[in-house]
Amino acid sequence: MSKIGVFDSGYGGLTVLKALVNELPNYDYIYLGDNARSPYGGRSFETVFEYTKQAVSWFFDKQDVELVIVACNTASARALRQIQQTILPIHYPDKKVLGVIRPTTETLGNFSKTGVAGILGTHGTIKSDSYKIELQKFYPNLKVYQEACPLWVNLVENDVIDTQGADFFIEFHISAILSYSKDIDTLLLACTHYPLLEDSIKKFIPEGVRLISQGPIIAESLKDYLFRHSEIESGLSKSGSREFYTTDYYSDFNSIGSRFFGEEIKVKRITL
Ligand code: DGL
Repeated sequence: MSKIGVFDSGYGGLTVLKALVNELPNYDYIYLGDNARSPYGGRSFETVFEYTKQAVSWFFDKQDVELVIVACNTASARALRQIQQTILPIHYPDKKVLGVIRPTTETLGNFSKTGVAGILGTHGTIKSDSYKIELQKFYPNLKVYQEACPLWVNLVENDVIDTQGADFFIEFHISAILSYSKDIDTLLLACTHYPLLEDSIKKFIPEGVRLISQGPIIAESLKDYLFRHSEIESGLSKSGSREFYTTDYYSDFNSIGSRFFGEEIKVKRITL
């Protein structure tokens, strides 16, 4: 029997894990945050691929995990496809790695009435154009504008969300993306950290613009995936356990991570 692995560059994926646990509480989850090397947002394709590959291998080689969710948007954008196409078939033919971009793009178009949406993410995610490319497949008529908000991750990690400084940088990027088209009525938070800024972001978006967080979308999609893949579902253990691992200081992770996860966590340190 195996557990579900959830990977992120650091703390942010805990917002996704939270949603998974809410929707699918019975499964056993192992979370890994690569805090020692985060943020991934400004890193090259090659580096993000290498780091993500190491993390995925850790789940498969060192843990009882057959299914990994790459909760990090940057890693999903820059590494997932290559891992699925080149690493899994050779090294782990029976294991699965899923990301967050595909499930999000499958549903995003349903939220927009005007047919115009905005994507907010890290440099890596936005530069990859992954959201635009995937959305084109599912909603060819949806117009998509993008904005990289590189400082937002730091605002969250340093817990300065409710400050004038944070408001300045939040408003800066919100007014930028809204200036690209007056018809944008849907804004996607395409980064694991951004849900923690939701209240601040709402101060700067006009009524009628909807803010979409990914957690519930990913949870719904995993539920559907497990329903469709009973051969995977039947191999998952269901004792409701959660384990947390980080590649950096565990004391920081316990306090900051608890903020992201919404309840106390106890983390162990590992090396990749
Ligand atoms: N987890 C990353 C993402 O969702 C944000 C943090 C980082 O840049 O590593 O894109």
